[in-house]
Amino acid sequence: MSSRRPHLTPWKAAGKRTERGTTADQVVRDTGWVFNNETGNTLTLEQFVETGNAEVDKYLRRFGLMATAGSKSIVEIGSGIGRMTAALTNVFETVVATDIDAAFLERCRETVAKFGNTSTLRTSHIADGRTIALPSQSVDVVFSYITLQHCKHDDALALTAEAYRIVKPGGRLILNYRTWVLSDAFLIPLSAIMRVLWHTPVIGEPLSRWRWSTRLGWQANRLSPRQVYAHLESLGVQLETPKAFSGGIRARRPVSIGATQVLQDEFPMGNKSHWWLVAHRS
Ligand SMILES: C[S@@+](CC[C@H](N)C(=O)[O-])C[C@H]1O[C@@H](n2cnc3c(N)ncnc32)[C@H](O)[C@@H]1O
Repeated sequence: MSSRRPHLTPWKAAGKRTERGTTADQVVRDTGWVFNNETGNTLTLEQFVETGNAEVDKYLRRFGLMATAGSKSIVEIGSGIGRMTAALTNVFETVVATDIDAAFLERCRETVAKFGNTSTLRTSHIADGRTIALPSQSVDVVFSYITLQHCKHDDALALTAEAYRIVKPGGRLILNYRTWVLSDAFLIPLSAIMRVLWHTPVIGEPLSRWRWSTRLGWQANRLSPRQVYAHLESLGVQLETPKAFSGGIRARRPVSIGATQVLQDEFPMGNKSHWWLVAHRS
């Protein structure tokens, strides 16, 4: 574990648990706390994947991808143990699941074998947390959900640039982030304190495996639409129909971010700080 990335501690702790060789259902019970809010002694992999199926369906419909997915390739950044990957393999022509944790990718294959289509699946390890080992302009869609908020700020921006690098001209970026809300004034400093505690001898290790501590300490960054689009513009990217979907928008309206006109659009989400970057590469 790099001390430069203490926010990865819960993923590493969960990754070690997935390596214990227990059943897939047990892995979900042991590690569910790092993937979604579902926990409990009776949770099964099937139930866990059902939450992913419902979300994939919702997002693909909202972003207008469902009808054409069958002829497209997709890269998922931060697949975890495949909660959403299974559904993606049932819909897309090819899927590349990527994650910083290689053990999760092993379990992801297992999940897809049970509930998805392994013939369409490949995996690719993001070993350094910021570089995707895939050729430039090689994929139709790059998708990421509840992952970029947990990366170090610079890694989240680097992965955003990587998403643009690997997507084909005319291809689509569908990336989920968290922006600032008032409660972050407390949450973000507390989160930083928690990450320091994870590295404290004796208490740090067990602490990093407690759900409440993870949920606090993994609040690694906040990135607004303005920050992300301005970063992309600084790299000279060419985007068409750039949009920022969020629950916090009351009316559809274009906003200027540098020279880029970004359409802000509404997408009711449980958490107002979540937003989606949706854009075509020119
Ligand atoms: C909350 S989980 C979400 C997993 C999946 N998207 C889902 O919705 O079930 C976040 C995932 O991001 C991965 N992750 C965290 N930082 C990463 C990074 N810098 N690069 C790639 N994956 C990362 C973690 O290992 C974890 O699997």
